[in-house]
Amino acid sequence: MTDRPRVFVARVIPEDGLAAIRAGCDAEIWPDELPPPRAELLRAIEGCDGVLTLLTDRVDDEFLDRAGPQLKVVSNFAVGFDNVDVAACTRRAIPVGNTPGVLTETTADLAFALLMAAARRVAEGDRYVRAGRWRTWGPMLLLGPDVHGATLGIVGFGRIGQAVARRAAGFGMHILYHDLQRADEALERELGATYRPLEDLLGEADVVTLHVNLSEETRGLIDAARLRSMKPTAILVNTARGPVVDTGALHEALRDGLIAAAALDVTDPEPLPADHPLLALDNCLVVPHIASASRATRGRMAAMAAANLLAGVRGERLPTPVNPEVYG
Ligand code: DGY
Repeated sequence: MTDRPRVFVARVIPEDGLAAIRAGCDAEIWPDELPPPRAELLRAIEGCDGVLTLLTDRVDDEFLDRAGPQLKVVSNFAVGFDNVDVAACTRRAIPVGNTPGVLTETTADLAFALLMAAARRVAEGDRYVRAGRWRTWGPMLLLGPDVHGATLGIVGFGRIGQAVARRAAGFGMHILYHDLQRADEALERELGATYRPLEDLLGEADVVTLHVNLSEETRGLIDAARLRSMKPTAILVNTARGPVVDTGALHEALRDGLIAAAALDVTDPEPLPADHPLLALDNCLVVPHIASASRATRGRMAAMAAANLLAGVRGERLPTPVNPEVYG
């Protein structure tokens, strides 16, 4: 018997976090590359004081019932927490932690990389060379739009959306944004960003980049009608969550030339099966949900998730709770 808190960590995360967890707890760490199957997850969390989850692990009433009434914290290794039923945790006074702030710049880097790659057809060019099709310099070969001077529409103007705006300013882009709440004038001035209602932004932007949380309000936000309202030359970038875009409608829009291209870090479903129709389209670039995947950022996320977990099992306030109302 031991009085050290028992925790389950649902995947191997960087040592920046694991070392502290091992030092402070009796930790079971799921060793596989793939997430624990549901039955394994439910078995592993039984009787735990804390659980470190990933965006692939659903935390709901069933999960909380199986963990048991001693559960003191759910620490999610992500800034997004749409995999967690936060209301269910709050009803049981269980704090939920996430990892805000530390991945903002890294995620914005990838959003900008996808924007550049889709506009300048980088992945298509690479496939063209590898297929042995590069025979000469061609005046008409793989033409795309300019990024500099283009109009960027940022949907969701939180930390990451604003970080993308800072990058776009360096490229002389004209920046529009949409959010439920309009930014204050000083921030608009600093970033050179102009507010637009969503429908206006979609109609004006050369590139639309998504930075909203997944919620019931944003599920399917970019649907067939909204895709139709975009320019036929427009590019859609999604580093937010897959279900923010209607996948079937996006496939049709790309196939039928309603928009020019899409670049996706996140998809619905996720992962996207290798035979998915989107992957048969040359104008669709897909990477496997890697926006925060720099070594330094994943280390910071691990340290932050560990700090939330350890604070929770000790009965202390989490450094970054998403449901601070549990503290009264
Ligand atoms: C998040 O943190 O929500 C990302 O999707 C993974 O880093």
